[in-house]
Amino acid sequence: ATQPTRRIAIDGPAGTGKSTLARTLARRIGGAYLDTGAMYRVATLQVLRAGIDPDDADAVIAATSDLPLEVGTDAGAERILLGAEDVSEEIRTAQVTANVSAVSAVPQVRENMVELQRRLAAGGGTVVLEGRDIGTVVLPDAEVKIYLTASPEVRAQRRTDQDRSAGRDADYDEVLAAVIERDRKDSTRAASPLRPAEDAVVIDTSDLTLEAVLDRLIALAVGTDASQ
Ligand code: DC
Repeated sequence: ATQPTRRIAIDGPAGTGKSTLARTLARRIGGAYLDTGAMYRVATLQVLRAGIDPDDADAVIAATSDLPLEVGTDAGAERILLGAEDVSEEIRTAQVTANVSAVSAVPQVRENMVELQRRLAAGGGTVVLEGRDIGTVVLPDAEVKIYLTASPEVRAQRRTDQDRSAGRDADYDEVLAAVIERDRKDSTRAASPLRPAEDAVVIDTSDLTLEAVLDRLIALAVGTDASQ
């Protein structure tokens, strides 16, 4: 028998624990996992490698419309390929991070990515999609919608800790300024601004442990959350 479709949309800004939570949730409930931010990061990497100005929308569209992009949806070991090359690490560099807002603000880039995301989510069974616009644009009829938030200060601290433990230099004040600036860009852009869907469950993770949030997500995902 085919499994019933259960699409779980997890949206919110960076630094809410979203990626770790979405990936862990997918593993715990035996679902597939799709990191849509990684897709915009691959497009950005391609733009930078081609020496294109990320603010030149026409050139960005031309460079990314036939992107040989492959994103694994195995929650245990997702691989991100650009052609035959595994770019999972390179898409996390500061240079890509600094330019991804410009690339992901181009409506035609978003349309191409959204189409691919819908195709990847249509496989049936349980799938966790993580991003900024999953509940609002990509899958407005998703079975479960969750929006994670946290204060800018908490998110900047988490990002600083993450960078330092990965051996990268990080200055809290600079990270905080970057967090606030990226929020502003992501939530005020014309195409699919970052905001919770009207029917999303909003969870502020500022004062919660990852385990506490995960328990809540599992309950929501399997439909046993009593507070709903
Ligand atoms: O989650 P992340 O930091 O890897 O996302 C990278 C960028 O991509 C971020 O600036 C917002 C953008 N993004 C988006 O516009 N839509 C999505 N569904 C996912 C990410």
